[in-house]
Amino acid sequence: MTDLRTALGEAVAAAFAAEGVDAALARVTTSDRPDLADFQSNGALAAAKALKANPRELAGRVAERLAADPRLSAVEVAGPGFINLKIADAALSARAAEVASDADHAGASPVAAPRKVVIDFGGPNVAKPMHVGHLRSAIIGESLKRLFRFRGDDVTGDAHFGDWGFQMGLLIVACGDEGLADGFMADGDGPFPAESPVTLGDLDRLYPLAAGRAKEDPAFRDRARKATAELQGGRPGYLALWRHFVAVSREALVREYGTLAVDFDLWNGESDADPLIAGMVVDLKTKALLVEDDGAQVVHVARPGETRKKKLADGSVVEAPSPPPLLVVSSEGSAMYGTTDLATILDRRNRIDPDLILYVVDERQAEHFEQVFRASILARYAEPGSLEHLGFGTMNGTDGKPFKTRAGGVLKLNDLITQATDKARDRLREAELGADLDEATFEDTAHKVAIAALKFADLSNSRTTSYVFDLDRFMSFEGKTGPYLLYQVVRIKSLLRRAAEQEAKAGLVAISEPAERDLALTLDAFDQAVVEAYDKRSPHVIAEHAYRLAQAFSKFYAACPVLAAADPATVGSRLTLSKAALDQLVIALGLLGIDAPERM
Ligand code: ARG
Repeated sequence: MTDLRTALGEAVAAAFAAEGVDAALARVTTSDRPDLADFQSNGALAAAKALKANPRELAGRVAERLAADPRLSAVEVAGPGFINLKIADAALSARAAEVASDADHAGASPVAAPRKVVIDFGGPNVAKPMHVGHLRSAIIGESLKRLFRFRGDDVTGDAHFGDWGFQMGLLIVACGDEGLADGFMADGDGPFPAESPVTLGDLDRLYPLAAGRAKEDPAFRDRARKATAELQGGRPGYLALWRHFVAVSREALVREYGTLAVDFDLWNGESDADPLIAGMVVDLKTKALLVEDDGAQVVHVARPGETRKKKLADGSVVEAPSPPPLLVVSSEGSAMYGTTDLATILDRRNRIDPDLILYVVDERQAEHFEQVFRASILARYAEPGSLEHLGFGTMNGTDGKPFKTRAGGVLKLNDLITQATDKARDRLREAELGADLDEATFEDTAHKVAIAALKFADLSNSRTTSYVFDLDRFMSFEGKTGPYLLYQVVRIKSLLRRAAEQEAKAGLVAISEPAERDLALTLDAFDQAVVEAYDKRSPHVIAEHAYRLAQAFSKFYAACPVLAAADPATVGSRLTLSKAALDQLVIALGLLGIDAPERM
């Protein structure tokens, strides 16, 4: 199944080739004058230059070759040598029928060679509060996971849980001091209590206190450091307590992510890479990659000449390697964030052996990933090109700083969702939507509207841009918003319900009206949008397509009566088009991680 643009692209390339032009110059794009044509090729301009020919004449000869193509109803040369192509109604109808019959993929093609892909996203931490970076990672990562899977890749989404390191030592000491860890603090093999009294509330409360205290109280900080080292060294009581912290934290996170329709195939954590670190350090030494630097052990990752100016503590400026060396073992002998990421590459190779790992993490960590990727390629832990950091900008508050929830504190996912759901309820009532729904269904609808608003607002921006959190705008039923798209879905569903009640049947597609053509062309363009979103790792392209499709349907519905059409054949054709639009819209929204309600 090929989309029209690709199919025409091949025909146009063949016609250009017959005129002695390199096929690469013969690109077909969507027309920028939809009133004149559906597609266009500007290839004659560049080709004429290369051949020292007259572009209009060359375009004329190519057009003549294309004129006999039954899929085209008009081929015209315009301006200095553009070739305008208009699709014949029959060819457009056939393509729309093809999309309509493809209920699972709505006309989108799979990848030619499926790969094993790990997507590292979410990245929440035990007890440490979430911030907008975690939220965006969850939204974007979930969408990419669905998109890659949709195209046939074997995808594993891994939360890469922050379950190791200093914060765990802080919690152990803090719980011990509060008498919440009695029985676990004993030095020895146990037995330890079967259960710990520590709750999620304790973790949330104790972490900020302990983190604050560690900054001011060196003795406390040292105890926490020691506890961290002992935990990592395998002290049984600490491990038992740690397992409890991880379980409590994870259970709450799974629930919160669930509310956001985000889930992970794996909840591997930073701790999973820990057993591999010692061997890896030896290996890096053997490969002569690990060098001593001021008491620490580092891997140099900058190439000769890659430097930048760096200010030293004494105020002097030197040329320092850029990116800076990857810190593998600190001067105190501990493994670092980068060490864990490097070892996790080995761990994933052992467990999954992926062809590609995508890291959906805040743009601010770009240098960290550059260091890790370079080190892992130097050490031959990964193939060049098999690791990609997909950075993203921040979601800001109106003050231009990373968004915080009402309380002013850090982001609480639940608070955010509650706030959005409250607003969704108000908006539905204002718009007099959902008035005839029972209470549970209304609640479910409000929740879906809220999630659609949050996710669509995020994904309709390109990944790298930062945007401002503006719930009022996100929640509007008009404009490029999640709620608008859900409203269109519900409209089509209700049309199809009415059709079923009247026993009107979907039938052969026969396109003639401009609004029908437009809808069919939009349905056809989904494949290209999916490919582009996939290639650029950019859900934004799908969001854009979904919005265009909703608009095309809306115009079609306004211009072309469906159930009230003049004859049963037209009713049937328009019902098939409506059904195709619904399927594609639902699939596109699904790729964004957005679920639509039945009614509103
Ligand atoms: N837990 C980390 C943080 O909160 C994010 C983890 C991202 N993934 C990774 N492989 N480093 O910043």
